[in-house]
Amino acid sequence: MEITNIAYVVGAVCFILGIKMLSHPRTARKGNGIASLGMLIAIVATLTAGEVLDFKMIGIAILIGSIIGGIIAQKIEMTQMPQMVAIFNGLGGGASALVASAEFFSQYNQEPSTFLLVTIILSVFIGTLTLTGSFIAFGKLQGFISGKPIVFPAQQLFNALVLISIFTLGYFILENPLDLNLFYGVLLASAILGITLTIPIGGADMPVVISLLNSYSGIAAAATGFVLMNNALIISGALVGASGLILTQIMCKGMNRSLQNVIFGAVGGDVSVSSGDVQELNIKSYSTEEAAMIFDAAEKIVIVPGYGLAVAQAQHAAREVGEWLESQGKTVLYAIHPVAGRMPGHMNVLLAEANIPYEQLKDLDEINPEFEDCDVALILGANDVVNPAARHDKSSPIFGMPILNVDKARTVIVNKRSMNPGFAGIQNELFGYDNTIMVFGDAKDMLNKLLSDFKEL
Ligand code: TAP
Repeated sequence: MEITNIAYVVGAVCFILGIKMLSHPRTARKGNGIASLGMLIAIVATLTAGEVLDFKMIGIAILIGSIIGGIIAQKIEMTQMPQMVAIFNGLGGGASALVASAEFFSQYNQEPSTFLLVTIILSVFIGTLTLTGSFIAFGKLQGFISGKPIVFPAQQLFNALVLISIFTLGYFILENPLDLNLFYGVLLASAILGITLTIPIGGADMPVVISLLNSYSGIAAAATGFVLMNNALIISGALVGASGLILTQIMCKGMNRSLQNVIFGAVGGDVSVSSGDVQELNIKSYSTEEAAMIFDAAEKIVIVPGYGLAVAQAQHAAREVGEWLESQGKTVLYAIHPVAGRMPGHMNVLLAEANIPYEQLKDLDEINPEFEDCDVALILGANDVVNPAARHDKSSPIFGMPILNVDKARTVIVNKRSMNPGFAGIQNELFGYDNTIMVFGDAKDMLNKLLSDFKEL
């Protein structure tokens, strides 16, 4: 037992080191490896602790899980990462609920302690809620369920009543653990609450919800750790719970929204833009040849990547364009908005993948003053994060979100495929500004054409 706990401490140190290293792109890959090693140590320590009954079943489960996980991780597109995390969270929560349920069924007729029952109820409640909530989040992001907020009358009252009923049932389980219907009641009510809490949240807010559910899955795991009195599970659950909450907080800050507003605000979804709104903008559409001439005269260029760059997988083409401009003696910087793309650090990961030097990546606070004396801001598939309405239009759903002040640049060149809106579903007034020109097309195609036009100048 002592050696097992020592191994758990070593595993925990690996988790903490891993998380620390994940905070910088240069060390992230290594950090991931160290955290995985910590998990391997914890698993081996648990399996060799002498309490495991059936290695064959565990071996089969590990094999099936590894094959499914390996295939999914290989196949998934970077832009589908939030969906994958949603499924992982859901399965993590479900696993915690299952383990706690198994413990309940093996103990309920042997006068279990109040502590054990409380931890089981908490684990089942949070784990099941995480399972159903995460699958709704997955369905919304994948387009299986409408991304629009799904609301019904007195929804919050309904949720409050379900929550109260879970606590009431839990209290009665403590009084009478032999009545299994009470336990099934907690399971069912928690599953319903996971659904009804998630459906009113708009598609654009889903990544925040996924991060929150990630935190819940950690809390459920920690509760299961108390059920089993397993220190590794308590530590890793607490780490996931805390880091998920911190990430949620960072995302809310990036969008200037409170968590309460994300969960209860019913904001976002597929708000369609009327063609009238589009016509009001005075759009100037340029070819890549014309854009190349503007770059030729520029000295300082800021490249702003967004979700569209990720869709087009244009990060390598962006680096080539950046390198060409630098070879012509120009200054090139990259502006990273904290919620550009569809997951935290999305743009950092993409640009790091293309070997763009970290020193050229500037975050919001660093880059915003630079736009004042910037000749060209090149927007590649970014939309909401450069929408000036966030600064002044109180009726805009993104009002108050800190944005990249690209409109302060002398010329703004926007690349996207059409006039379709971004994730928040709103038109972007920037596209009609006097200093903005549009170069329509897929980001990768456009950058490749731009590069060949540069060479012909
Ligand atoms: P968006 O506002 O979603 O805009 C992306 C743009 O890319 C679209 O307008 C689209 O226009 C264009 N696009 C799509 N495919 C393209 C392609 N192949 N080539 C060129 N352009 C393409 O992206 P953003 O500015 O990065 O903002 C992110 C949004 O997600 C924000 O609203 C943010 O609040 C939300 N969000 C993000 C996070 C995280 S953590 N990143 C979390 C929660 C919410 P076309 O269809 O016309 O091409």
